[in-house]
Amino acid sequence: MAETLLHIEGVSKRFGGVTASENVSLVVPAGELHAIIGPNGAGKTTLIGQLTGEITPDAGHIRFADADITALPTYQRSTLGLARSFQITSLFLDMSVLDNVALAVQAHDGHSFRFWRPARKQESLRAPARAALARSGLASRADVPVADLSHGEHRQLEIAMALATRPRMLLLDEPMAGMGPEESARLVALLRELKKEYTILLIEHDMEAVFALADRISVLVYGRVIATGKPDEIRVNPEVRRAYLGEKDVVARHV
Ligand SMILES: Nc1ncnc2c1ncn2[C@@H]1O[C@H](COP(=O)(O)OP(=O)(O)O)[C@@H](O)[C@H]1O
Ligand SMILES: [Mg+2]
Repeated sequence: MAETLLHIEGVSKRFGGVTASENVSLVVPAGELHAIIGPNGAGKTTLIGQLTGEITPDAGHIRFADADITALPTYQRSTLGLARSFQITSLFLDMSVLDNVALAVQAHDGHSFRFWRPARKQESLRAPARAALARSGLASRADVPVADLSHGEHRQLEIAMALATRPRMLLLDEPMAGMGPEESARLVALLRELKKEYTILLIEHDMEAVFALADRISVLVYGRVIATGKPDEIRVNPEVRRAYLGEKDVVARHV
């Protein structure tokens, strides 16, 4: 049996009167692509925030790679290998794709960079940056200014920047949002490759993508995990069907 990489134990979080996480428990073995689905407001992003350390749970514990990370600051979780890919607002648009990723490597490695040389010129930063771009399918766009990337390529860049930190586990919050069918298909192909190498927690509304990629799926409703299982088990789960009844965009065709 695969080693447990992420273990969420009884995590709860309230915002005023809203229970965003209610006694959430989840085990993700190394190598798994675990998808979390659920209606808007179900608490998916709040759960990711508690994994990265941006949100502190009111109760419960989070273990990653055998360490209790519940109270660790974000950068220490990143050092342990937990990487979030999210929309990056601090990109240098007139700089090349490669230079932006090199800066992500530098930010992650902090002390290892030599401040008297322009960081992005250093081979020690550019080599891992190039590798991350190759892994995320952006190698051919390395020298293009970020401003020239398409929406889909932007998302690939965000994944490249997460990969540049050499993570063990990737946390992806709705990476397909705003993509057309072609871009989504490209991203599904990319994630299918990445799942061979990384443990992945994927939050996604695109059920096509979720059912194509996930080893297991957890369904979150009002902060509560109502079901966890293989795609085929989730499809036929009566409680999941009930939760999605009337939501036309969702599982209808898949469940
Ligand atoms: N910082 C916050 N302050 C108050 N309420 C919040 C905050 N973050 C999330 N919520 C509430 O918690 C619930 C879960 O939100 P969220 O985790 O963003 O759901 P999802 O990502 O599944 O759409 C929602 O009702 C949302 O309004
Ligand atoms: Mg969300």
